[in-house]
Amino acid sequence: MPKSVGVKKISVAVFISGNGSNLKSLILSSLKKNSKYEINLVISNTLNAKGLKYAKKFRIKKKIINYQNLKYAEKDILIELKKNQINLICLAGFMKILSNNLIKKFWGKIINIHPSLLPKYKGLNTHKRAINNQEKYSGCTVHYVNSKLDSGKIILQKKVRILKTDSIKKLAKKVLKQEHLLYPKALNKVIINL
Ligand code: GRF
Repeated sequence: MPKSVGVKKISVAVFISGNGSNLKSLILSSLKKNSKYEINLVISNTLNAKGLKYAKKFRIKKKIINYQNLKYAEKDILIELKKNQINLICLAGFMKILSNNLIKKFWGKIINIHPSLLPKYKGLNTHKRAINNQEKYSGCTVHYVNSKLDSGKIILQKKVRILKTDSIKKLAKKVLKQEHLLYPKALNKVIINL
């Protein structure tokens, strides 16, 4: 009997707000033979997130969270996480800040992908700022989530060369392509260390 039979996979929730291209790459990698995880829940703070189509396509449970009130929103999130026996959370373009309470409850089990070489360029408009500062490199980072924005321990990074001819759009495209490779790798690394 193969070794993998009967081994319970890590149950992952992915939080999105937008296109969900990282969600797609995580789903595709979860479907590979010998994957250690499965995506069992997609959470979005908005009904309009384009990435929700992947939940539909791959028949993954999705939940839209009403964020008018943070306390109630996170209460709903915690209920869903429990219901779906979620072990790990991947933030993938999720535009809401998690409270300390939620972060503490899932300490070391929430990771995020950010389109810069952290600790440089935390926050928004990373590509624009990197180009304006004439950086030679940009890239992407997967890191643990702590109470400070984009400041948790780094899990993996990938450098991307910035060419003189790169527009913000071009650079964003190049970095995003690397994000899709980096995120599944980083998730596997986290799982091994669980
Ligand atoms: C990515 O660039 C990610 O690094 C950032 O938000 C973007 C999300 O893209 N946090 P997508 O929704 O996964 O396509």
